[in-house]
Amino acid sequence: MNVKEMAAFLEFHIEKMTAAQIEEVRALEQEGMLDPWLSDDYLQLLKDADRWLAVTVTTATEERGAVVIGMGLVQFLGTEMELCKMVVEAKFRRQSVATHLWQTLLYQGRMRNCRACFLEVRPSNRGAIRFYEKLGFRLISLRPNYYSNPVEGALIMGCEL
Ligand SMILES: CC(C)(COP(=O)(O)OP(=O)(O)OC[C@H]1O[C@@H](n2cnc3c(N)ncnc32)[C@H](O)[C@@H]1OP(=O)(O)O)[C@@H](O)C(=O)NCCC(=O)NCCS
Repeated sequence: MNVKEMAAFLEFHIEKMTAAQIEEVRALEQEGMLDPWLSDDYLQLLKDADRWLAVTVTTATEERGAVVIGMGLVQFLGTEMELCKMVVEAKFRRQSVATHLWQTLLYQGRMRNCRACFLEVRPSNRGAIRFYEKLGFRLISLRPNYYSNPVEGALIMGCEL
């Protein structure tokens, strides 16, 4: 059975992130080569539902029960929304998990009258850029020397909601 066929047998569940999922999410970020935010930062943002929304995807496993395999995090800023994090566990990629996460976040942004969404991404992260382009994001500008470890500029991408 290949990965796409296996996906047909998996059941994904999308829900608002809970405090109990923080360490799983931080481990996902680490695996996805993102800089994990501190546990305390997550605790704070989970309490500030007007400004932040973190959504997780879980799936049931025989060995460990429900496990978090993806996460998306947005910040609401008036009529704009910022996509701050998007990560899917490596073995579940290319099965539309992040696309479904995005659709959930997009719906929530529209419900809050957001008109546009922006994000930052490393130019070297070609896979993520392709993914964002597929969602309808376009390049807006470049911020030189934005990231550290390693130092790299950031592409600013945006889309209308
Ligand atoms: C970027 C990321 C979240 C995409 O998650 P995903 O669940 O694999 O994405 P999807 O399956 O929904 O992809 C939808 C489409 O986006 C495009 N896409 C996604 N990943 C891609 C890749 N690595 N290379 C090229 N195109 C890609 C494809 O067109 C794909 O459709 P297809 O599989 O039918 O060809 C995932 O690769 C990831 O977690 N990366 C590490 C963390 C990261 O870099 N996050 C972004 C930081 S800004």
